[in-house]
Amino acid sequence: MSNESLASLLKEERRFAPPAALAAEANVTAEAYEQARADRLGFWATQARRLSWETEPTQVLDWSDPPFAKWFADGRLNVAYNCVDRHVENGHGDRVALHFEGEPGDTRSLTYADLQREVSKAAHALTELGVQAGDRVAIYLPMIPEAVVSMLACARIGAPHSVVFGGFSADALATRIHDADARVVITADGGYRRGKPSPLKPAVDEALTRPGTENVRSVLVVRRTGQEDLAWTEGRDVWWHDLVDRQPEQHTPQAFDAEHPLFILYTSGTTGKPKGILHTTGGYLTQTSYTHHAVFDLKPESDVFWCTADVGWVTGHSYIVYGPLSNGATEVLYEGTPDTPHQGRWWEIVQKYGVTILYTAPTAIRAAMKWGDDIPAKFDLSSLRVLGSVGEPINPEAWVWYRKHIGADATPVVDTWWQTETGSIMISPLPGVTEAKPGSAQVPLPGIAATVVDDEGNEVPDGAGGYLVLTEPWPSMLRTIWGDDQRYRDTYWSRFAGRYFAGDGAKKDEDGDIWLLGRVDDVMLVSGHNISTTEVESALVSHPKVAEAAVVGAKDPQTTQAICAFVILRGGQEQGADEAGLVEELRAHVAKQLGPIAKPKRILPVSELPKTRSGKIMRRLLRDVAENRALGDVTTLTDASVMDLIQAKLPAAPSED
Ligand code: WT7
Repeated sequence: MSNESLASLLKEERRFAPPAALAAEANVTAEAYEQARADRLGFWATQARRLSWETEPTQVLDWSDPPFAKWFADGRLNVAYNCVDRHVENGHGDRVALHFEGEPGDTRSLTYADLQREVSKAAHALTELGVQAGDRVAIYLPMIPEAVVSMLACARIGAPHSVVFGGFSADALATRIHDADARVVITADGGYRRGKPSPLKPAVDEALTRPGTENVRSVLVVRRTGQEDLAWTEGRDVWWHDLVDRQPEQHTPQAFDAEHPLFILYTSGTTGKPKGILHTTGGYLTQTSYTHHAVFDLKPESDVFWCTADVGWVTGHSYIVYGPLSNGATEVLYEGTPDTPHQGRWWEIVQKYGVTILYTAPTAIRAAMKWGDDIPAKFDLSSLRVLGSVGEPINPEAWVWYRKHIGADATPVVDTWWQTETGSIMISPLPGVTEAKPGSAQVPLPGIAATVVDDEGNEVPDGAGGYLVLTEPWPSMLRTIWGDDQRYRDTYWSRFAGRYFAGDGAKKDEDGDIWLLGRVDDVMLVSGHNISTTEVESALVSHPKVAEAAVVGAKDPQTTQAICAFVILRGGQEQGADEAGLVEELRAHVAKQLGPIAKPKRILPVSELPKTRSGKIMRRLLRDVAENRALGDVTTLTDASVMDLIQAKLPAAPSED
């Protein structure tokens, strides 16, 4: 990271103290940091007592064979019992667990007692299909209550689930079924997306024709869209309503070892075959439960929590299913897209259910900024009291917009850094404790150890940048890559001896707070300077006319790489009026913010950016465009026509200095 560009990001001087009322009643106070510092393992042993164990653990961490950790190894528990039954036993059977809102507007509310019945029946059904503890079950469902019920039913019988995001193709599904050697697939005829039924079952049928998927005995199918002409394989396919509905409503949960596998979740990354990230039981549930309680300050009696992620991502696993339900939360589950049937849909849902805590991604926040301030302003959002962000660095402008236009300029915003691999939130402000800095995830949570190191692995001083590492094992850490211990060692534990390499660039400011700069493979090399794509994007969106920006480094004969930016203009900005003038204005703006070295060589105003369904910008495709190459694989794009629009812009001559 060049010193001048580092210095400029640190110019963000806005500070937001926690609201006094929230701080006074906060679940977690500054004392937690002290306790964890004094006795880190004792701190986690205390947090493990948030759960109900059939056999209380006496061990905390076993790190005798690094990097293979065991947490609470002699404890035994059942995850579904912790997420469902114990709340009913504690007298909360009538509390709503899930407010389901379908995209077409159909709704269903499930109380904890309802959830207990549904999960019990589904557990019996899986057993009837021959699923035993240890067998893998693939789940390929839309965002409907059956997705949550299926995950909990698997957990209840000790069958690790592998949830495959419903937007993935038959190929991606087949690869994942094969790698995990799944025995049963749970799917639906389809789900609703952008106002119409979007089929799922045909992709399962296709996936199951691929080699390596032969061990799938049964496909359990939820009827969601009622599409006709569904292909059906007798003896393999079975309707959920035929099998699950006739099962007994009581099911006795059996305890499993704390290190029993809970789920596999595949992350694609930029290269190579997807990695099956393996999470286990006791440590994972301890940390998801604790972080959900601490970071969102959840009060289960009064809060309504809404995490907008899909259950197909880790955010959905940890903060729709395991964290909130282990804490007895009431939450919203929404099937569809934010702009169907109108761009105020999310805000309408917040108003309807009185959502108090909202957890979403920067890409959604920037989309809302682009659609305009007047849209959320039409709804009553006064129930909101904590806002969260996850998935990528949130630029300060989006952070401040989120707080101002969604949070009534009053609610704390928690920028939470973590990964599929970490299982739970690792670096984040605490809403009742931390004085917030827009754009920074700030500090490791109590009990978590993280820092920033240079190429040689030396910790950098405050004010400098490098790579984010985690220096101590944590309860919800991945245990390995499914079937590939060596790849687990190589990917995460060999870059810096004894420390976990997260793959993210980061810097520490003068207060020692951590700022995430994006994946290290997203750093550009310009005339000998390392410049992060995030920094330039952040500088661009700090200009009032820019809503969103994506920056890539394109090969350049003079400077190694040249900075090429794609920008979406804010709502109300006229496109095309004086594009050349605007481009010059933006280039000058970046030069002023970050220094002349970071001035983009090219800036292309576009109407959309290529994104995966999880909202990550596909820089690889933008690099193809910037380097005038044929496009690579576009199958994971939400909307492939975006690339045609972008390529149509190409003839625009690069501006010269
Ligand atoms: C990568 C992990 C964690 C659930 C969703 C993504 C980036 C995540 C932040 C944040 C800056 C962030 C990192 C990380 N990331 N949260 N608050 N600030 N960057 O899970 O798909 O495993 O991606 O997302 O680059 O390594 P994932």
